[in-house]
Amino acid sequence: MENIHPIFSTLLGRKEKESFLNQRSKVLWFTGLSGSGKSTIAAGLEKLLFSKGHFVQVLDGDNTRTGINNNLGFSLDDRKENIRRVSEASKLFLDAGIICINSFVSPTKEIRNMARQIIGDKDFIEIFVNTPLEICEQRDVKGLYKKARAGKIKSFTGIDSPFEAPASPAVEVMTADQTVEDSVQFVYDKIIKLISPE
Ligand code: ADX
Repeated sequence: MENIHPIFSTLLGRKEKESFLNQRSKVLWFTGLSGSGKSTIAAGLEKLLFSKGHFVQVLDGDNTRTGINNNLGFSLDDRKENIRRVSEASKLFLDAGIICINSFVSPTKEIRNMARQIIGDKDFIEIFVNTPLEICEQRDVKGLYKKARAGKIKSFTGIDSPFEAPASPAVEVMTADQTVEDSVQFVYDKIIKLISPE
């Protein structure tokens, strides 16, 4: 006799939800330096996919570090815990049939491997936003590089904390010489088959 309350055995599964939403759920995982354009591309991709009838959710530092991860800083241990929680949350979204667009620096191979392991290899789509440090620093959208160079922020990725580029990302987007729209379209074209029903 199974010792499970009947209500649990009647929960709907991922397949039913994916088919309801007419899509396959995946985690589109953007990695790259601060200021590389990850979140801008993620936001554009969310809009584009939504306009085509997909159900999507963006997770990034803005909506996770202010809430579920508001007790974490930027030591490598805290970054790892940040990514662990985000990955576990993403798994719940996958089960709900939702396409997750995650935008996190996720600076080391170890950290991204952990994310891949938690989420599952076939559902983890690694997208490397490859923008050279010099350009991120020139853009300095949030003024953080200036502060990091002045020593006012410690352990800043690319300055005094490591960033290891992915060895073989599913998608690599070079933002230096193209518009945001071009980058969004480029990523869309690469991932659309993966999320479309079989
Ligand atoms: S991660 O390393 O744990 O994946 P996450 O993507 O959540 O980082 O947050 C990165 C964002 O936090 C950056 O884009 C930047 O705006 C801000 N930030 C503040 N301090 C740091 C720091 N020391 N290193 C990197 N980013 C920082």
